[in-house]
Amino acid sequence: MTSSDTPPTSLPEWQTLLACKERLQIRPMKTLFADDPERAQRYFIDGAGLSLDFSRNRLTDETLEALMALARGCKLEERRAALLRGDKVNVTEDRPALHTALRNPGTDTIVIEGQDVIAEARATLARMDAFVEDILSRSRTGYTNRAFTDVVSIGIGGSFLGPKLVTEALQPYQTTGLRCHYVANIDGTEICETLAEIDPETTLFLVQSKSFSTRETLENSNVARQWFIERSGNEQAVASHFMAVTANKTAAQDFGIDPDNVFPMWDWVGGRYSLWSAIGLPVALTIGMENFRALLAGAHAMDTHFRDAPLEKNLPVVMAMLGIWYNNFWNAETHAILPYDHYLRSLPDHLQQLDMESSGKRVNQYGHPLKYPSGPVIWGGVGANGQHAYHQLIHQGTRLIPADFIIPLRTHNPVATHHADLFANCLGQSRAMMAGKTLEDARAELADSGLNETDIERLAPHKVIPGNQPSNTLMMEMVTPETVGALIALYEHRTFVQGVIWGIDSFDQWGVELGKKLGQDILPRLLGTDTQGEASDSATDNLIELFRSANRL
Ligand code: F6P
Repeated sequence: MTSSDTPPTSLPEWQTLLACKERLQIRPMKTLFADDPERAQRYFIDGAGLSLDFSRNRLTDETLEALMALARGCKLEERRAALLRGDKVNVTEDRPALHTALRNPGTDTIVIEGQDVIAEARATLARMDAFVEDILSRSRTGYTNRAFTDVVSIGIGGSFLGPKLVTEALQPYQTTGLRCHYVANIDGTEICETLAEIDPETTLFLVQSKSFSTRETLENSNVARQWFIERSGNEQAVASHFMAVTANKTAAQDFGIDPDNVFPMWDWVGGRYSLWSAIGLPVALTIGMENFRALLAGAHAMDTHFRDAPLEKNLPVVMAMLGIWYNNFWNAETHAILPYDHYLRSLPDHLQQLDMESSGKRVNQYGHPLKYPSGPVIWGGVGANGQHAYHQLIHQGTRLIPADFIIPLRTHNPVATHHADLFANCLGQSRAMMAGKTLEDARAELADSGLNETDIERLAPHKVIPGNQPSNTLMMEMVTPETVGALIALYEHRTFVQGVIWGIDSFDQWGVELGKKLGQDILPRLLGTDTQGEASDSATDNLIELFRSANRL
């Protein structure tokens, strides 16, 4: 245990921020912009190929200073050093969280229980190099000697969301010709639809599970293996068509996977931070190892920026502290992730797991209940589509919803004026959120359209947009392996910084266990193999009966 049990709310910096809030309550952002022509330039920082305009926030220099003072008061710099050098920051599981080691290309050494984890990560990358090369050069083929054409990645949560996001994000870099399919859910539709698209002779299955005990993944893998044996008529061929990435090599072997086909995972990497390990294999197989290494290099550049940049100019720190500002001082309950780029359409899903599994905590590292809110609801979707769906609530609803707009300056697909249009939409939204529309403007607009006084008075209140809704605009030159790596690493560190302020363990996820166990208890009752089962409640009993009767069980 390295951080203090002192709640952040008892620090003097917390009081300073409460006073800052009082002052800002009567100074909307519109006024802040009008008072300071340099505002956009002053609240603009960059690092690792990403640029952040954070001028559209309820913020002055005084606020920024106070937020950074709070970060220092919570010992952020010491905690950051502890994370990066491999201290056991995951206190409830007594482990370090060394995802940064996976993308460290240097000569650094971090020894955990007698093993240099950077060397291990590098050795695994070398194995991935050889494996991808064997598949692409066709020196490793399917059981009928045909080249592999499809990869089916079976995994869920952190063993799925990151690789899926990056596979989509880097579609322009998919040069290997291999098609990648993801199967996550224990919904038969997903595995059935996927199996219907592939040929057993040319398909490689990757079972992706750190624990190799996740029911969804194991059941889907069993179905895939059974399907494969039935179609191929060749049980021996499972050895050349099924691979695993796991920290539980024995369980993978028991499943029937050749030990030579098992890539390692380690306790010192959390599932939601595992994209950078061999869990990234499906990505590497579609974009090639050179691009995969560029992805790691982008993430490493962000790690270096996070480690070295002054707090005031540090992208993850500034974004995290703005999150704390709204979450803990302005009572925001959600945070929107709004990528304006089709390739980044799954970013909200990945960040939702990353942040909500990390920050969904109710006690601090010492087990003491938090007396302040921790992680907000993370949600979002691709722009401009969201403008025609949920942006109405951001503009005129009753809640405060801070948002991150994420957009590349240039597109891979220049067509007509689409990219300028998309950019204009993005800027239009952040400006509307900030500036809003006053009652006077609404009245004037209605008068201009020729309405009579009665109608103007009736309609004007509906047209008012209060504005003063905060947003960040995060930009990159283009969506590339390097910028995608930096972007994901930025949010990983943002999540960590917020955890430091709240004093929580950002790397465990005990809350997910109860539902899993209860599901396991209910299954035999649904199937009728155990009619008694665990005692439950009348709602569960009723719904079990409903299911059994619909399925004639
Ligand atoms: O849902 C909980 C969880 O443990 C996640 O943290 C994890 O990413 C996911 O399940 C999958 O776990 P595994 O890789 O062990 O199958």
